Amino acid sequence: TKVEMNLGQLEKEGYPHFMLKEIFEQPGCIHDCMRGRINIDGNSVVLSAVIDYKEKLLKAKRFIIVACGTSWHAGLIGKHLIESFCRIPVEVEYASEFRYRDPVIDENDVVIAISQSGETADTLAAVELAKSRGAFIYGICNAIGSSIPRATHTGSYIHVGPEIGVASTKAFTGQVTVLTMLALTLAREKRTIGEAQFLKVVHELNGIPEKMKQVLKLNDKIAELSKIFTYAHNFIYLGRGYSYPVALEGALKLKEISYIHAEGYPAAEMKHGPIALVDAEMPVVVIATQNGLYEKVLSNIQEIKARKGRVIALVTEGDTVISKIADYCIELPQTIECLDPLITTVPLQMLAYHVAVCKGMDVDQPRNLAKSVTVE
Ligand code: G6P
Repeated sequence: TKVEMNLGQLEKEGYPHFMLKEIFEQPGCIHDCMRGRINIDGNSVVLSAVIDYKEKLLKAKRFIIVACGTSWHAGLIGKHLIESFCRIPVEVEYASEFRYRDPVIDENDVVIAISQSGETADTLAAVELAKSRGAFIYGICNAIGSSIPRATHTGSYIHVGPEIGVASTKAFTGQVTVLTMLALTLAREKRTIGEAQFLKVVHELNGIPEKMKQVLKLNDKIAELSKIFTYAHNFIYLGRGYSYPVALEGALKLKEISYIHAEGYPAAEMKHGPIALVDAEMPVVVIATQNGLYEKVLSNIQEIKARKGRVIALVTEGDTVISKIADYCIELPQTIECLDPLITTVPLQMLAYHVAVCKGMDVDQPRNLAKSVTVE
């Protein structure tokens, strides 16, 4: 009815779609997510769940992350964070595979279930299975009081507010933020992180909302760029290290809402298959910020250009090398390697959004997809 439509418009606060509104909310969401947890003057990070269940968490021999979709991508970043800061092995599983595999799991394992809605049927079933085998279950969810938080032993909410757009955006960056705080808190307790590094990450994390605001200023530029690529039938997204899950997430966003086929790949794996697809028609999005494996990614870009692929590169502000090789560059503020996903994900959300809008798609309610998959 007319009244409902007007209410819908009101809730979007002037944005044409919930997805764009939620993309733009991210600086505030990340701030809310850290509120009361990061104390910048006290140089501390406190997750109450970690304090309450310190012993359980510290004696864990292994972490297993279970999730689906975008939450699973956040899990891949979580693995990288926890392994490098805490030196504990972490496995990341699709909940749907885990639950039907009779997994080897016992009371020495901690299972982290990541779910925006807290209602995903496979993730809930994975939690119940792990619990029945004696594992300790930690939830990272958004919807307060939903089924998964109720089934877990403890957990941390991401506190990013209701997410309406079917394609997940702010929940992803919220999940990555909580995983970063979890890894930091545990690492400090385990003494697997040096004080200087701990402080560096905490201070950088605290500054992420401001840097995200800078990234959002690229919206018009990315909208322009998107027009060039509405014709495409395929996209490849490449990244390495912390950027590999971002490549997967960027590709997922594009396919979900624009219905363009897109694949995310670890950049170095490209030569084992996907490079065969590269021709002058193929857009290749490369996350090439100045961190860890920059030189390696640079040579991956050269390999794509040698095959005439059209490279859209995410680079660090002031990069003068890649701008000479790539067809299009999106310049992003610098941050430390482990926090790069919180910056690089945002332009990929905007790219997917604008391509879908150019194609006239129903961005907030893409065909065949549900916000929460509560049945198998
Ligand atoms: C659905 C949604 C995705 C989401 C996935 C997992 O497929 O469309 O956006 O990432 O479920 O949802 P969850 O609520 O468990 O994070």
